[in-house]
Amino acid sequence: MADIVERYDIPQQLFWLHGPRQGRPVEFDAATGLWNVYGYPELHQVLGDPTTFSSDTMRVTRKLMPETDELSMEGFITQIDPPEHGKLRKLVSSAFTRKVVADLEPRIAALTHELLDAAAERGRLELVTDLAYPLPVIVIAELLGVPASDRALFKQWADGLFDHEGKISLAEPSEDRGADVQAALKPWKEMSHYLATHAAERRTRPRADLLTKLVEAEVDGERLPDDQVVNFAIVLLLAGHVTTTMLLGNTVLCLDAFPEQQDRVRADRSSVPAVIEESLRLLTPFAALARSTTREVELGGETIPADQLVMCWLGQANRDPRQFPDPGVFDPERDPNPHLAFGRGIHFCLGAPLARLEGRVALGILLDRLDPLRADPDEPVEFIPTPTMTGVRRLPLLW
Ligand code: HEM
Repeated sequence: MADIVERYDIPQQLFWLHGPRQGRPVEFDAATGLWNVYGYPELHQVLGDPTTFSSDTMRVTRKLMPETDELSMEGFITQIDPPEHGKLRKLVSSAFTRKVVADLEPRIAALTHELLDAAAERGRLELVTDLAYPLPVIVIAELLGVPASDRALFKQWADGLFDHEGKISLAEPSEDRGADVQAALKPWKEMSHYLATHAAERRTRPRADLLTKLVEAEVDGERLPDDQVVNFAIVLLLAGHVTTTMLLGNTVLCLDAFPEQQDRVRADRSSVPAVIEESLRLLTPFAALARSTTREVELGGETIPADQLVMCWLGQANRDPRQFPDPGVFDPERDPNPHLAFGRGIHFCLGAPLARLEGRVALGILLDRLDPLRADPDEPVEFIPTPTMTGVRRLPLLW
């Protein structure tokens, strides 16, 4: 890990990148009012037990922060528990299938070349702006059927939701907190309105796109209500690009910091998928998830009471030495590599096949067109400051 920390200016908020963690695998933080779970076996337990560790975190957040009352997370697949979750997951999976994703491969390759050609004409390549951001956002917009040309709008919403320093505290009500929460809600409202307009149009004028498939999806005679189509489309639009942008940037960072691994993957391209998996482990894009306890529970030697918010630090668990020897080393040969970057259990990432495909195709083309694939040593690398996200927002490459 020293390689990455010393090489780039990693912000302090990404505390878990700054070396091996001391302390217990489960800890209560009085300053934020949150329980933090850092250990691999402990997180395995949490993510495998949705009855005790509910995904409906708003239930508890609303009690602790009444300002969030008007934010309805109902119908967001990531927030729903069994048995409703299973029903919704079946419905959306019937539209967002592996085949739908696999068929995108030629388009992903063509787009990657187009974006790199445009950068070649300009004579410089800043990975995030020129490729890692536009590629997944165009892919998901085209898939859903919303205009890819609106992507400045999507970016504005995504930045409003994710690109902040995580200062809202559950433990300390303050005058500013209401304003902070309102500011955080604005992008949700705008996205809902935007996608509701598009979904309503598909009901009257169906097209060959995923929004139409979602509107028409039917399992056991049941269809998705309008608000759930919108909510799922929001999850896809957000999850579909922010995380994959981070994955691409992080993978290039790993190959920059560990050049011997770059040589290996150049010599044997069949190891590209393993490089992607190891990048997901070492620089986990979604570094943390939240759950809420439905009852008192023992975890990692601690007793967590009912109705507590639990932060699940995937990024930290993915470098737990009890599971991954030499966890700070980027070693694509780890086999198996049971990282938790896509979560685990019933909420396991539905978009993992798409993220992996985009990562594999884009990395392959980058290796073809740039040799070596290196960060520009004269330009700073900028990280997203949000503590629960690991990714760069600026990564100029040698061209
Ligand atoms: C769920 C990570 C890309 C759609 C999740 C979860 C994680 C995750 C950790 C579990 C959430 C939880 O348990 O609370 C990632 C990472 C990605 C990525 C690291 C890229 C590197 C994508 C893409 C899409 C997507 C490309 C879709 C286009 C979803 C959906 C869920 C989900 C719909 C909710 C599944 C459920 O609750 O049943 N993702 N994701 N993700 N992801 Fe991804």
